[in-house]
Amino acid sequence: ATGWKGKDFIGLAGWSPEEVEAFLHLAKQLKANKREWVTKAPLLGKSLGMIFDKPSTRTRVSFEVGMVQLGGYALNLNRQELQLGRGETIEDTAKVLSRYVDAILIRTHSHSLVTELAEAATIPVINGLTEREHPCQALADILTLAEHKGELNGKKCCYVGDGNNVLHSLMHIAALTGMHLSISTPKGYEPSPAIWQEAESIAQATGATLSFSYDPAQAAKGADAVYTDVWASMGQEEEKAERTQAFAGYQVDQALMAQAKPDAIFLHCLPAYRGLEVSAEVIDGPQSVVFDQAENRLHAQKALLLGLLES
Ligand code: CP
Ligand code: NVA
Repeated sequence: ATGWKGKDFIGLAGWSPEEVEAFLHLAKQLKANKREWVTKAPLLGKSLGMIFDKPSTRTRVSFEVGMVQLGGYALNLNRQELQLGRGETIEDTAKVLSRYVDAILIRTHSHSLVTELAEAATIPVINGLTEREHPCQALADILTLAEHKGELNGKKCCYVGDGNNVLHSLMHIAALTGMHLSISTPKGYEPSPAIWQEAESIAQATGATLSFSYDPAQAAKGADAVYTDVWASMGQEEEKAERTQAFAGYQVDQALMAQAKPDAIFLHCLPAYRGLEVSAEVIDGPQSVVFDQAENRLHAQKALLLGLLES
């Protein structure tokens, strides 16, 4: 049994390095023996309710397909189609869903809405992205890094761009796996100091390091992987023009990739905007593993679900 059975998965700060190791082991197994696991149907009769307050391609499809491949079922619950959209409280929604399904996945803006849902629910709640964290993404990220770079401990990963939810979860997972994470953002777009604290305290036990520079070239030096994400996240559409200006000079292009190791990989959680945070040459070039990374959402989340829900 894995350490996260029956628990909420709202963020990675509560995970241990041992749990991450168990997770990676299980995810690799599930990926390698996909067909075998389908016939085992370990989650037969189990269901996942998925509430999406924001758009999603990868999270939605990979969770739904992942449940089916494990013998379970997933329901897509758009807020507008629920009574939640007409003012039923999140607490009542949580209590009712707890009587029907075995876990709830939620993607929403506010992180506190997810914690409120989790407090009222009697079943595990999974964070499918908030403005603060995107922990499911980080699970797929380390699976991808492990596949392409082997042992994670001691590897250098560089993140260039916005200090957002994707970076926050990457900070947690890098700390948990003993990586060296170098971060570069423009002034005013740095990651949250609270997350930095959480990651630093995890890093003390694993030997991981976190570093920061406003100069992306400095941050990318000698990196094994270079990661970026959109400059304007969902909900920040109105800031797009202002952000495009602020982030000029932070595009991951060939010149920036040349600062990293020659065999460095390029990561992006997707969706991506070519010509903004990444050049087409890089994301569509030989160093890019973004579609492996997208595929790994499926395998990573199946491992998460199996660990959470297996009887
Ligand atoms: N990376 C990610 O979470 O993609 P979606 O927004 O398509 O789910
Ligand atoms: N930072 C992005 C990630 C999308 C998967 C957002 O929150 O929109």
